[in-house]
Amino acid sequence: MDQAQSLRRVAARRRAPAAGGRGLRTIAITSGKGGVGKTNVVVNLALELAAQGRKVLLIDADLGLANVDVLLGLAPRYSINDVIHGDKSLEEVVVEGPRGIQILPAASGVSELTSMSRDEKLMILQELDAFQTDADTVLIDTAAGISDMVLYFNTAAQERVVVATSEPTSLTDAYALIKVLHTQHQERHFKLLVNNVTDARETKEVYRKLAVAADHFLGGLSLDYLGYIPADPLVNKAVMQQKALVEVYPASPAAKAFRELARTILQMPPADASGNIKFFWRRLVNIS
Ligand SMILES: Nc1ncnc2c1ncn2[C@@H]1O[C@H](COP(=O)(O)OP(=O)(O)OP(=O)(O)O)[C@@H](O)[C@H]1O
Ligand SMILES: [Mg+2]
Repeated sequence: MDQAQSLRRVAARRRAPAAGGRGLRTIAITSGKGGVGKTNVVVNLALELAAQGRKVLLIDADLGLANVDVLLGLAPRYSINDVIHGDKSLEEVVVEGPRGIQILPAASGVSELTSMSRDEKLMILQELDAFQTDADTVLIDTAAGISDMVLYFNTAAQERVVVATSEPTSLTDAYALIKVLHTQHQERHFKLLVNNVTDARETKEVYRKLAVAADHFLGGLSLDYLGYIPADPLVNKAVMQQKALVEVYPASPAAKAFRELARTILQMPPADASGNIKFFWRRLVNIS
């Protein structure tokens, strides 16, 4: 598709409505270490935020195996890759999940954004801007590790929720991620969610260790404690059923904790109340 075609298609669409005047919240869910529960957190948090009135767009930025569509039993046909190559509009790529949440499969393709020319970025931006969404909350499921892509999504989002377990390796990897985001990308605000907890006393210890290390070695950053999700065998049962835990086992301990987590997040003041989806797309495409 050439630029003129793209411009015509964009012009033919209505502009996206504003995000309800409440300001857009963009939150990356991240961890450093793999397998600590990011994708389960992102999916169940998205559904609980939707139940509490938010319009959620979930960006799946992890190429891993058990990603968002697998957990929800969805089979998206396209990804943001198809938008970048000009073959599809964002409307055609985004799939709808339970409770009306929108899911954008973004794991493949986004790395190309960083190497694009300004003109190419502007074209992508037009496609993103033309997307009609009333989303007021964007959640991003990042991959494990501290790859450029992980850092990229963490810096594009206004808020970062670090998921950790009480395993020492989870703590050291969470610390390493916070360190690189702080020292190389000047991120100063982080939120901690402790997952897979068998003894509630563990969580305070996890928070204390991370907060002490961050304060001692890094300084000048804040780590807010969001709470914890208990270890709950029904989490895995829901995974096997490819259904969201909060939908199939809403009374389970972990589902209750996700409900509480959504409440906690909504009660916290947003990092930047003035943001809207267009600002976010600009940050994502990395263009001013
Ligand atoms: N609170 C919990 N209680 C019991 N099991 C859990 C809990 N949270 C996650 N799990 C289990 O941990 C496993 C990994 O979860 P998940 O896929 O969400 O992790 P992840 O951090 O997204 O992994 P990756 O880094 O590979 O993307 C799943 O099999 C899930 O069943
Ligand atoms: Mg995952």
